[in-house]
Amino acid sequence: MQAKPDSFSIVIFGANSDLAARKLFPSLYELFLLGHLPEEYRVIGVGRAALSHEEFRAQVDEKLRTLSPGIVLDKLPFKTFCSRLFYVKLDLALVEGYHFLRRVLMDLSGESNTCDHLLFYLATPPALAPIIVRNLAQAGLGENKATCGGWRKIIVEKPYGSNLPSARELNAVIGEVFSEERIFRIDHYLGKETVQNIMVFRFSNGIFEPLWNRHYIANVSITIAENFGIRDRGAYYEEAGLLRDIVQNHGLQLLAAVAMEPPVDLSADAVRDEKAKVLRSVRPFTIENAGQSVVLGQYEGYRSEKNVAADSRVETFAAVKFFIDNWRWKDVPFFIKAGKNLAETVTEIVITFNCPPQNFFGPASSCSYTANQVIMRIQPEETIAIRFGAKRPGEEVITDPVFMKFDYKTSFAGVGLTPYHRLLLDALAGDQMNFIRQDSVEYSWAIIDVIREAVAGQQPDSYPVHSRGPESVQNIY
Ligand code: BG6
Repeated sequence: MQAKPDSFSIVIFGANSDLAARKLFPSLYELFLLGHLPEEYRVIGVGRAALSHEEFRAQVDEKLRTLSPGIVLDKLPFKTFCSRLFYVKLDLALVEGYHFLRRVLMDLSGESNTCDHLLFYLATPPALAPIIVRNLAQAGLGENKATCGGWRKIIVEKPYGSNLPSARELNAVIGEVFSEERIFRIDHYLGKETVQNIMVFRFSNGIFEPLWNRHYIANVSITIAENFGIRDRGAYYEEAGLLRDIVQNHGLQLLAAVAMEPPVDLSADAVRDEKAKVLRSVRPFTIENAGQSVVLGQYEGYRSEKNVAADSRVETFAAVKFFIDNWRWKDVPFFIKAGKNLAETVTEIVITFNCPPQNFFGPASSCSYTANQVIMRIQPEETIAIRFGAKRPGEEVITDPVFMKFDYKTSFAGVGLTPYHRLLLDALAGDQMNFIRQDSVEYSWAIIDVIREAVAGQQPDSYPVHSRGPESVQNIY
């Protein structure tokens, strides 16, 4: 890992995008407020609109006020932050604009050569990534400056391609210019405190890990549910669908974190080796059998959303039963269930342990009453609970389920960082542990591609808005 730089410029392609407005500018401003940015830094927004630096600053100011109401826009710090914002208008397809960008970077850093550390952030649709990367290279902005130590790194937003071949193609193009240790494929789930804590919970405690295997665990269930629809992302959703939007990345990354072996050490590659091994061990579906393990759904009213086809077959819900064919997990089902417009917004991982061999205690001698579970709630609450059976007070010996709960909010004081805060800082410091490596991207696509092929053309099951998804979901449990 590199030390945090004393000075750098971050160049945001797609500066007028929703992501930039909602996540990147607020995060950079908050990092500045919290003192995490060096004295010397510049944020250069790149877009197609013709804007002066002043107009761009006014635009960022307005968006922060409307989209991030909780943010503290104190006069002086915010003015200082805004004075570090610059704007470059360019046509992404033409190399001339990139030469101009290079000159702007040189002027801003006061260098006669572009020696400054440069972090490029692609907040743009995936199809533009190859064009941007090739033009950066042509303008001499892709290579590290060995002579003066200036590094160049690139952060690429999901989705990385739309299937295995396109992900490989994208990687080949980016790889022509940026070496793997300079590519940061972001999945913001890996920046969540509660997700980062999975590894700490598992490997810093002696209590759980001995039980964390097929001998003691009956199943693992990962839920990523949202109580809102696709909002104004109809065009994107029609292209992507939920399997690609959520399961391929966030869902499978959570599965990998729960199932991975302990890493050799805490280096980025040791951790990513173990995650890649899990994804590689996921039992491959075949076109013939995938249908038995997958239920897709579409919420009622989806077809009336803006930019959605009236006969759309795109899924807004998916439930998939996976198996991981390795020594630790053979034959333990891992369920991933995710969907839009469900009853509540919650992301959680429930690990259900086997029933005791004999259960004497009522009300029924089934272990569903004493369900022994570890429940990691990723959001909105940030908790880990152990659910176990306790004797109901009274003369009869009856068990009731009770919880022991750890809550980040009550156990730790202080302002936590958000996923984008953490991941931006990690990228600046060159720490790739919480960024996805290309092999994992490819294993994940290989899994999703077969599922998509198997269900191609099928109509997803309909489900009412704010329900628990289609009833057919029971078929895979
Ligand atoms: C994004 C998906 O990657 O993650 C969205 O594109 C989804 O569809 C979002 O809503 C969920 O993120 P979070 O952090 O709110 O759970």
